Amino acid sequence: MIIALTGTPGTGKTSICALLEMHYGIIDLNALIKKDGLHTGEDELRGSLVVDIDALQARVDELVKDETATVIIEGHLSHLLTGIDALIVLRTRPDVLAQRLANRGYPQEKVQENMEAEALDVILVEAVERHERVYEVETTLTTPDDVAREIWQMIQSIEFGDLAQLKGYLPGRFDWSEEVFG
Ligand SMILES: Nc1ncnc2c1ncn2[C@@H]1O[C@H](COP(=O)(O)OP(=O)(O)O)[C@@H](O)[C@H]1O
Ligand SMILES: [Mg+2]
Repeated sequence: MIIALTGTPGTGKTSICALLEMHYGIIDLNALIKKDGLHTGEDELRGSLVVDIDALQARVDELVKDETATVIIEGHLSHLLTGIDALIVLRTRPDVLAQRLANRGYPQEKVQENMEAEALDVILVEAVERHERVYEVETTLTTPDDVAREIWQMIQSIEFGDLAQLKGYLPGRFDWSEEVFG
């Protein structure tokens, strides 16, 4: 089973995967992109790498090809990949997200950009356009431990095909547009 874990930067993907790595194989896309040079260079204006998504897809396909256990593919681009059985989108209320990114030392512009993307459901929209099985999990008022446990349970339900347990995670529960845009 291949599970993708996506979400705006700061929603908690890396922290949660660190707690789940004893249970699942984890593919950290940011690390993989850097390690294997799966980019076409740096976007100097945005201070980020321009990812070669085809090369990334090919590399991920190679890594999961002979995998029989469940693997989590973690990264804010993971929902752009194909060959995913289910997708989990982490969500954080924009004011809390902004605080986390500021603590991480992001410049104000980047904090604002990510806050707006979160309020406008940018990743969620991209996700549901591409995948059938999409679930949203909130990380605003919980701890990484709580969410890791929740996701472990969700993956059990996904593996067993227990859709009733997943109903509460179907997309469309969050509307934070007022928070950012008034
Ligand atoms: N419920 C939660 N789930 C995940 N992270 C949380 C939660 N509450 C607070 N955090 C904090 O938010 C930050 C998330 O950072 P990180 O895991 O690097 O996010 P991402 O990989 O999505 O960019 C960490 O400092 C983490 O401790
Ligand atoms: Mg991360």
